[in-house]
Amino acid sequence: MNDMTPTKEQREAKLEGIGCKRKRVEDIRFTQGKGNYVDDIKMPGMLHGDFVRSQYAHAKIKKIDASRAKALPGVIAVITAEELKPLGLHWMPTLAGDVQAVLADGRVSFQNQEIAFVIAENRYITDDAIQLIDVEYEELPVIVDPFKSMAPDAPVLRPDLEGKTTGAHGPRKHHNHIFEWTVGDKEATDVAFQKAEVTIKEMISYHRTHPSPLETCQCLASFDKIKGELTVYGTFQAPHVIRTVASLLSKIPEHKIHVIAPDIGGGFGNKVGAYAGYICAIVASIVTGQPVKWVEDRIENLSTTSFARDYHMTTEIAATKDGKVTGLRVHVLADHGAFDSCADPSKWPAGFMNIVTGSYDFPVAHLSVDGVYTNKAPGGVAYRCSFRVTEAAYCIERAMDILAQKLGMDPADLRLKNFVRREQFPYQSALGWEYDSGDYHLAMQKAMDAIGYRELRAEQKAKQAAFKRGETREIMGIGVTFFTEIVGAGPSKNCDILGVAMFDSAEIRIHPTGSIIARMGSKSQGQGHETTWAQIIATELGIPADDIMIEEGNTDTAPYGLGTYGSRSTPVAGAAIAMAARKIKNKAQMIAAHLLEVSEYDLEWDVDGFRVKGNPERSKSMKEIAWASYNSPPPGLEPGLEAVNYYDPPNMTYPFGAYFCVMDIDVDTGVASIRRFYALDDCGTRINPMIIEGQVHGGLTEAFAIAMGQEIKYDAMGNVVGASFMDFFLPTAVETPKWETDFTVTPSPHHPIGAKGVGESPNVGGVPCFSNAVNDAFQFLGSTHIQMPHDAWRIWETGRKLGA
Ligand code: CDP
Repeated sequence: MNDMTPTKEQREAKLEGIGCKRKRVEDIRFTQGKGNYVDDIKMPGMLHGDFVRSQYAHAKIKKIDASRAKALPGVIAVITAEELKPLGLHWMPTLAGDVQAVLADGRVSFQNQEIAFVIAENRYITDDAIQLIDVEYEELPVIVDPFKSMAPDAPVLRPDLEGKTTGAHGPRKHHNHIFEWTVGDKEATDVAFQKAEVTIKEMISYHRTHPSPLETCQCLASFDKIKGELTVYGTFQAPHVIRTVASLLSKIPEHKIHVIAPDIGGGFGNKVGAYAGYICAIVASIVTGQPVKWVEDRIENLSTTSFARDYHMTTEIAATKDGKVTGLRVHVLADHGAFDSCADPSKWPAGFMNIVTGSYDFPVAHLSVDGVYTNKAPGGVAYRCSFRVTEAAYCIERAMDILAQKLGMDPADLRLKNFVRREQFPYQSALGWEYDSGDYHLAMQKAMDAIGYRELRAEQKAKQAAFKRGETREIMGIGVTFFTEIVGAGPSKNCDILGVAMFDSAEIRIHPTGSIIARMGSKSQGQGHETTWAQIIATELGIPADDIMIEEGNTDTAPYGLGTYGSRSTPVAGAAIAMAARKIKNKAQMIAAHLLEVSEYDLEWDVDGFRVKGNPERSKSMKEIAWASYNSPPPGLEPGLEAVNYYDPPNMTYPFGAYFCVMDIDVDTGVASIRRFYALDDCGTRINPMIIEGQVHGGLTEAFAIAMGQEIKYDAMGNVVGASFMDFFLPTAVETPKWETDFTVTPSPHHPIGAKGVGESPNVGGVPCFSNAVNDAFQFLGSTHIQMPHDAWRIWETGRKLGA
């Protein structure tokens, strides 16, 4: 050792491992416009496909006449349900156990439903041809309101299911009913309500919205008739699942299907499912023998491929007079649109809605969910959330505020009084989950101190008095939220998709010179996996992150994985990569022992290699070990240094957070200004604090959009209103508030590096926080609950109704 010998800290810093604010490596190409998205991929002889869509929400199709379109020069073919029937592809199974028409089979059930697929030499010709296809309709009565769906005289929305009294999730009560799902102890909950000193009841709606990623859904299918092989490039959050589904539907052997998800411009749940466009592009390529590309436009994306939410939650809390909760009862009416194509694990028809007890120690609870059909687009995807956890968090966080109001208690104090306590972890919730770790009181107190909560309440009181005296037209709201997420689906005992257990995977290969390629079953859509997965390996194996390349999205090279959604990447794939690295490390230790001529047990790990215990001068770096593994492995040991791990997590992880929003509202204009937004997140071990901050900023911006205006609305005729960015609120830098972020660290006890997911937390916690702020502002004028979204018009109207 001399002065030039790097210190331990310097060697650690050089790795840029866990905890480092490493710059995102993928941004080198993204910021220079060098990303490679599906629409950037062009193949020789490539054709284009596009849809004829329904103008009506509910109608019989009497006739489709494509003769004028087929005569247009450049049109190759027009596919309708009739052409798909002989292939058995006119209907497809959904992830939720329902079936969905690929192309309308004699009837349309929502506006913009796919009726025919036009294949032409370019997009201009497909568009012209679409105008030339004549569809004759017979209009049918429309249902857009889920509360009217199960009326005795409601029109039958799914004649294909007529007479079926059982669906994928049990008995159906009505011809428009999909499933009933119940969890918890009904009897004990009813008793808690009978004995309650105080109860509240409110119908809390979480309106229909949409993930709206910047890049829409798209694919390019190319069938090689000679080899019988299909290659599909697509915007897939779960490429392996798409390969399996494509094989099951097309009967092409799975090894002859190559699915590649290149760079993806945001997913947020929109790109998990299988859509008609994928199937039609594949069929079109098989039929024409040429590559066929399908690229959705914005209106198609917003109005057809996967809405989110549309949950109507009648929520009751039982409590004592001094504010201890004693029971929770929730009934959800879930609007699934025309087909149940929710993207949930198979056994969970309402996703993880049973996390609805939130962060509170409810002794008993009961949840029931009724799913119904309406004449709206199908979907029900987890828009930046873990399968309905955002609905659950909104429900309980609004309800806790309503209870606080009834009790005359401060909403933060009510939460502090009812939190699951640190010593109760692992905590068994009344609705069946085992929360892994948490320190809610610490996080809440830190957040309250940081925002100056008590001072804000004093200021609000003074403002309310001034408003009542007529001295100001501005009111002030303080949004308080404490959420618990459930991410990392999931243990295979609980979670599967189409029968494939929800594990995830990683394969790490060290080259002779000590650099690494790692391939993953996850698939980033902008979350920065290429940066963070390398950081985990860097810490585990002592190789600098810059010497590690991460590859995702090619099903031929990546180990089978269930993909990226529901913030499952860090809890599952992130664990797989640490475990694969540990397998390599074990072998590396044997090689180092051989090289140093000592027993393996005489070695200890030291940042970037092994050294002899008590004799640190004798050591072998991981780079030296890598070379030796190819050059002079110990006798009897396989050469090379690589490992694969399929990780089946023992439990989910439960990130949590305390969010506060300070909002000023002008009651005369309905304009709400966000004065401050403070977000404290606890996602266990933090791999890359800068990426976490970016994830929180993005998620909060989406939460702001959802709570304050973003909505997919329908009129009474089932016309989708506002399915373009002229009307659908997508905040720009102009509207987006300034975010303050903070953290506590409570590692997950069962995750190899203690990490929990984070990407979705800000959406889950942000929405109730904004909504609670609006509601809090109007409370002193007698309001209890105002439905979202809180756009300026609705806020203004609320003021008028309350006589402000
Ligand atoms: O599944 P998805 O990638 O959408 O979500 P995630 O697991 O929450 O990860 C989002 C990004 O945040 C990834 O780049 C993670 O590596 C990073 N992250 C982190 O740095 N530390 C954590 N404890 C959790 C996530």
